[in-house]
Amino acid sequence: MSDTGTIPKGRLLLFRILRCNPQAEASLPQMQEFKLEEAAGMTLFLALNEIRDTQDPSLQFDFVCRSGICGSCGMMINGRPGLACRTLTKDLPSTITLAPLPGFELIGDLSVNTGKWMRGMSERLETWVHDQQATDLCAIEEPMEPELAEQIYELQRCIECGCCIAGCGTMQMREDFVGAVGMNQIARFRLDPRDKRDDGDYYQLVGDDEGVFGCMTLLGCHDVCPKSLPLQTQIAFLRRKMLRVGL
Ligand code: SF4
Ligand code: F3S
Ligand code: FES
Repeated sequence: MSDTGTIPKGRLLLFRILRCNPQAEASLPQMQEFKLEEAAGMTLFLALNEIRDTQDPSLQFDFVCRSGICGSCGMMINGRPGLACRTLTKDLPSTITLAPLPGFELIGDLSVNTGKWMRGMSERLETWVHDQQATDLCAIEEPMEPELAEQIYELQRCIECGCCIAGCGTMQMREDFVGAVGMNQIARFRLDPRDKRDDGDYYQLVGDDEGVFGCMTLLGCHDVCPKSLPLQTQIAFLRRKMLRVGL
């Protein structure tokens, strides 16, 4: 409250949002502008909801958890991939440009089909524990050293938001590149003693130009990952390992 008893007004934000509806043949991509008064603690999630509620009910964007867990709200925020639900407007300039993540099928406006891409990557890299001996579903699992469990957990924090894909230059050139998210998955399963695949098996999956050797170490993935996963370290480690296996 100010001295005069009035609540100070927030900044007037200008949102420039890339609109496109691929379902409508005549729809061409275009920037649309919306103005909104900033409120205390406003996130892009809250701002987009307010715009949709008060200005344009046709605006498309994705949210589920609103707390950085589900990975569905990734978008380009002033040219950088990020999670809209974890981005405060106060940390951005008053003009905010939003666009869908590149590299994924566009559903409409800011909504992209990351799930389809992630499923394809997961099937291709077989991101599940391979243990042909495990026929007894009631068998008690071997205990795992806490340090190892923690290392696996660290890599498993990936929420498959797609920000690393959108922030990777290689991805824009190689359609089948598995990206940092795919290489992180391989690094995760390689650590897991329950996965009986060996280095040769992993090499088959990512030891080529669509995997470890296609990566040009641009490190955009590492910079934009909202979960701060150690992508740079994992990619470098896999590359060293693969070079040895390949010799
Ligand atoms: Fe998102 Fe990071 Fe996982 Fe990439 S590695 S999908 S940026 S959480
Ligand atoms: Fe792309 Fe990351 Fe490699 S940005 S080129 S996957 S280091
Ligand atoms: Fe779930 Fe943003 S809404 S991560």
